[in-house]
Amino acid sequence: MKHFRRPLVALALIAGVAVGPLAANEDLWRDCRTCHQVVAPDGTVLARGGRAGPNLYGVAGRALAGDGGFRLYSSDLQQAAATGARWTEDNFVAYLAGPDQFLRGITGNATAQSGMHVALGQGGAELFRWLRDLSN
Ligand code: HEC
Repeated sequence: MKHFRRPLVALALIAGVAVGPLAANEDLWRDCRTCHQVVAPDGTVLARGGRAGPNLYGVAGRALAGDGGFRLYSSDLQQAAATGARWTEDNFVAYLAGPDQFLRGITGNATAQSGMHVALGQGGAELFRWLRDLSN
């Protein structure tokens, strides 16, 4: 009996380690992929999605409004970018929790408005790390 059980345990471990976190993050990505994709500079599509928002390849550590190919950045996000701010994990999580509020805080403009009209209360840090690892 013993040697029949071992492969099962090994399988469960592999599933838990490899599939668990990946599935969780792909679940989170579902909230973003309507408007965002992740495409490497050589054209490799790392995560499929729409083009209404900027490409999130390399967004971890990138300058705000840093996708050179995206022409639809709002003027308020561009103003925030002019401060030299980058997408640190803290900035990313704060932006997702409240895009307008984040831009208001960083620009000092109390009526600043983001061109992104969605917010994500939870999972921001996980998404940040997933996007960072995807781009490495
Ligand atoms: C309905 C469309 C839409 C959805 C859904 C969406 N976004 Fe966005 N996102 C945008 C648009 C449009 C912008 C540009 C905003 C601006 O210019 O003010 C943007 C900007 C961003 C930026 C700034 C990028 C840069 O280059 O400075 C980040 C980071 C971001 N989105 C992350 C996310 C994540 C993570 C999700 C999923 C939780 C998500 N977005 C869901 C449309 C969307």
